[in-house]
Amino acid sequence: MKRMVTDIDQAGMVEPELIDAYIEQLTPEIAYLASAPNANEYAFVHLAHDKEIYKQVCALVDEKRDLHPCMLIVVGIGGSNLGTMAVQQALFGCLYNDLDPSIQIYYADTVDTDYMHSILTIAEGYLKQGKHILVNVVSKSGKTTETLVNFELFLQLLKEYRPDDYADSIVVTTDKDSPLWQLAQQAAWKTIEIPPYVGGRYSVLSPVGLFPLAMIGVDIKELLEGAAYSATQCVKQERTNPAAASAAWQYALCKKGYALSNLFLFSNELHGLGEWWRQLMAESLGKSTKRDGVPNKDALIPIVSLGTTDLHSMGQLYLANIAPIMTTFVTFEQEQFDYTVPDYAEQFDQLVANIQGKSVAGIMRTVVQGVKKAYKKQNLPYRTIILPEKTAYCVGQFLQQSMFEVVYVGYLLDVNPFDQPAVELYKQETRELLANE
Ligand code: PA5
Repeated sequence: MKRMVTDIDQAGMVEPELIDAYIEQLTPEIAYLASAPNANEYAFVHLAHDKEIYKQVCALVDEKRDLHPCMLIVVGIGGSNLGTMAVQQALFGCLYNDLDPSIQIYYADTVDTDYMHSILTIAEGYLKQGKHILVNVVSKSGKTTETLVNFELFLQLLKEYRPDDYADSIVVTTDKDSPLWQLAQQAAWKTIEIPPYVGGRYSVLSPVGLFPLAMIGVDIKELLEGAAYSATQCVKQERTNPAAASAAWQYALCKKGYALSNLFLFSNELHGLGEWWRQLMAESLGKSTKRDGVPNKDALIPIVSLGTTDLHSMGQLYLANIAPIMTTFVTFEQEQFDYTVPDYAEQFDQLVANIQGKSVAGIMRTVVQGVKKAYKKQNLPYRTIILPEKTAYCVGQFLQQSMFEVVYVGYLLDVNPFDQPAVELYKQETRELLANE
């Protein structure tokens, strides 16, 4: 199986001794992750090996595939849908639904009525034809306002068109004994449990991501194998530990005043992975206090860019080097498909020279090289992550390595990477307002 490659500090902006010193500082945390118990927030490290969850998910997928649903709607937000969206897009593409798949997938996250109207209309169209749809409602807490509002809309639609067997079309993914769990038990809806200590943004390799991904045909065994391989690399007590080295690099730059961390993905289909990573970074590291309660002044703000598209919108700003930004370039070594630029030399060579007869993927690689040379010239710090190919195994590696890395950065920053008090604050305030309306 092919391995992901992480090359840190390619512009030579951080002293190697500093990176070594921070990796050294991570020693106790690396040791802890190597043997983390399953009974605290570090439990996410066990997901890649959890045979029981894998079996449960596969059994549920077999059962629900028997219905031959033509549409799967994942109702959930943040950590409850971003991972699924990321993997689906990375492996099957952003235009997956247009390519005549046996099961289309849609995501209902925010309470945007116009968007919801579109998904409801599509779902209703299938129900009118007598076809099955499947609604997978995902909520760890089982009480997120947006998720439950959207779920109720689909429930109503299902009850209208399939009054006798609508329950077959529902799968609930939530914490055992959450309010949603209890409702599902009363209604006898199929329910699959999120392991108790696995937090939302660390849950893509749990039933949260595995069930919907397996439903649409992602090879979840391979995804988990890639993650398991990555986990072995990310608990090494040495500089070759890609998560520790990357964390040390990000932390060193943060301490040098680089507050922005840009994930620059050179593939449209990786955009979802960027959004997943952004949430992981922002919710894990964006804390107002250190672990001991002292105010946290170390901001590390994740941003996501898409190459080459954003070179034509943000490239000027980045390369002007007026704000300290560290960049992670993410590229594929091998695209699934490639084209050759047709050779109409007479007409086109005058417009852009040296493209005729060349591989389009090769031109993308040349642009990436050009960008890196420009970054180096401008003294902009960057690292590169290369995904060898578009497979579940490689995507699994990226997910797992990113989760280890963020925990290591959290350790160096001395913040709790597992809670999200500010998110809880807005949720609570919203619930109170709704109660008084
Ligand atoms: O990562 C997190 O913890 C959050 O982004 C949650 O996933 C998000 O707020 C949704 O919460 P829940 O899964 O409880 O509905």
